[in-house]
Amino acid sequence: MISFTGKKRIVVTSALPYANGSIHIGHLVEYIQTDIFVRFLKLIGEDAIYCCADDTHGTPISIKAEELGISPEELIEKVSKEHQEDFKSFLIEFDSYYSTNSPENKEYADKIFAALKKKDLIYTKEVENFFDEKQGRFLPDRYVKGECPKCRAKDQYGDVCEKCNATYKPIDLVKPYSTVSGEKPIRKSSLHYFFKLSELAPKLDKWLSSNEKLQPEVVNYVRNWIKEGLQDWDISRDGPYFGFKIPGEENKYYYVWLDAPIGYISSTQNYCKQHGLDAEKDYWKSKDSQIVHFIGKDIIYFHYLFWPAMLSESGFNLPDYLVTHGFLTVNGEKMSKSRGTFFTAKDFLKRYHPEYLRYYYARALSRKMADIDLDFADFRSTVNNELVANIGNFCYRALSFLEKNYDSSFDSIEEESELFGEIIKLTEEIKTDYHDANFKNVIQKISAIGSLGNKYFQDNEPWKLIKEDKEKVQRILGSCVNIVKILGILISPVLPGFFEKLKKQLDLPSLGWKDVNFELTSHKLSKVSILFDKIDEEEEKIFPLNLKVAEVFEVKDHPNADKLMILQVNIGNEKRQVVAGKFKEYSLDDFKGKKIVLVTNLKYAKLRGEESQGMLLAGDDGKTEGLVSTDAVVGSPIGVEGYTTGTAQVSFDSFKKLDLKVKNGKPYYNNTLLKAGDKELVVEKVKDGIIR
Ligand code: MSP
Ligand code: ZN
Repeated sequence: MISFTGKKRIVVTSALPYANGSIHIGHLVEYIQTDIFVRFLKLIGEDAIYCCADDTHGTPISIKAEELGISPEELIEKVSKEHQEDFKSFLIEFDSYYSTNSPENKEYADKIFAALKKKDLIYTKEVENFFDEKQGRFLPDRYVKGECPKCRAKDQYGDVCEKCNATYKPIDLVKPYSTVSGEKPIRKSSLHYFFKLSELAPKLDKWLSSNEKLQPEVVNYVRNWIKEGLQDWDISRDGPYFGFKIPGEENKYYYVWLDAPIGYISSTQNYCKQHGLDAEKDYWKSKDSQIVHFIGKDIIYFHYLFWPAMLSESGFNLPDYLVTHGFLTVNGEKMSKSRGTFFTAKDFLKRYHPEYLRYYYARALSRKMADIDLDFADFRSTVNNELVANIGNFCYRALSFLEKNYDSSFDSIEEESELFGEIIKLTEEIKTDYHDANFKNVIQKISAIGSLGNKYFQDNEPWKLIKEDKEKVQRILGSCVNIVKILGILISPVLPGFFEKLKKQLDLPSLGWKDVNFELTSHKLSKVSILFDKIDEEEEKIFPLNLKVAEVFEVKDHPNADKLMILQVNIGNEKRQVVAGKFKEYSLDDFKGKKIVLVTNLKYAKLRGEESQGMLLAGDDGKTEGLVSTDAVVGSPIGVEGYTTGTAQVSFDSFKKLDLKVKNGKPYYNNTLLKAGDKELVVEKVKDGIIR
């Protein structure tokens, strides 16, 4: 259990979001998770603060700023505002939201660097890297592409091949080119600073193996890396670079990942300076404080190795707890723009109430590295059936019955010792689950209390009983108000906005954990209203076809049918056989090497003895048929903007009913363009017609 007994101050952090893009619902998993945790600590009276910042340095920020024709400083200023707006709209509340491009951060970075140097943990070494002469800068891995040195797949990034999964160094790429300028980069040597991580391996291993507060599954993972041998860490970059200059150097900067985690300390200091405290004395070097980091599984290496090594060797405390979560998938798959499953925070808000997402994430989160899925159908039914129909409904039902029949007040409650005992037992378990960041269990148990409340109300049939014993019903409602109050407090870290609203209706403005009891024996409510609305089930627009860019690598005649042909196609990570009618305007050879569009979720069919595992899309104007084709990357999903791509299998009959048309040589669904990511598709030979 994450327990804080005896320790006074707690600083809790989330990873610092990069300042070159918008907050999306994947990020929100972590910020919502951390926010719930900190709100809980505050609720039970702990002295906890939530610190975060924008991660502002590095090449991607410079390049993004150049694209927009503004300075990096202007970019990070603008993005910081947007990020904070987004967090606020999801009720994520920081005690400090700062920037890694701050004077404090420079100060701490220099201090830590100097301390490491003094310990002889820093050395310099010549390193060869790709240099873009046109741009005048060294290129990080993500900005060089070329052919995979192993399988020769084209357009692969400088670190890993998406086709064969080989990992390599950028300088191993064949026919490399800069993604910024398109030019062939040159190899260039320069002096880099290194941190002797390898030397600290035994110390880190000891910390990992002796710390029971870390997630065991992550510890295993990291200890394996240590076993395989740690490399020293390259911590400098040559200019031009947006970051902090290394003291005594003309053109060398700290690598962004060196000063990024130091942002945790400088953000703490940003809070401290406004509260008469000191980040080092009161938090990061204090014996009386605890440090808790929430991170995603993609940045484990930095937080379980580099960062603890930096901290311990420069005299700071090591993190006490690291909560490591998995990644968000949407409808079971990686978020994707072309599938319509990539939502920025702002996109999501246009459709749904922010607290519904907080509820849904809380319900999925425990202290595990497993990925979590946002399935929109499940999202709607969960919100409607659990949150609205159970918790929301119980609160409204009980409060409005009291309002209507008893002028909103009661002056004694019905003592239901068994029921009260059961609920109090659950509240104690919930407290432990919150401490463990096991929000999944929290929500389960809160729902159980909601059900107990609903059952209690229902079983007493107050609408009947009121005619026989009006006073008893009033006492029963008094007991219900206590359950409502307890529910509100318990769920307040997850749904702070709901809690505010509920407190107003209850006319109990200062409810806290101390009120998790049945001691409210007389009270008058203020005005009651509905607390949650159901999500409209028809709201989401679904494009039912799973379309992919497919490359034809083999064509032949169907052995048993003159008018049919058999194609073998590649759809990225999979090969399929497709049986199709021949086209008047195309010879079999015309298909070879062509990139077409395949419907991949159609029921497989046998056509004259040959299996067809999909269908290709073609336009038809009554006279001519033309293929829908594209030059997008093989395997790219094709979608329709504003629509979520469905995952269910589609029958040929329902396919025929879809509104798919060709207009001006382009394919449309319900008057919206089909696209492969940002790439448009063309319908060959047909200007206007239907798609079949
Ligand atoms: N800037 C670094 C962190 C520096 S911390 C000293 C970074 N930024 S990020 O914007 O890419 O990610 C911020 C956090 O959001 C990370 O913990 C990351 O794991 C998390 N997530 C980003 N995309 C995510 C999903 N799709 N799903 C869940 N979490 C995700 O990394
Ligand atoms: Zn490869």
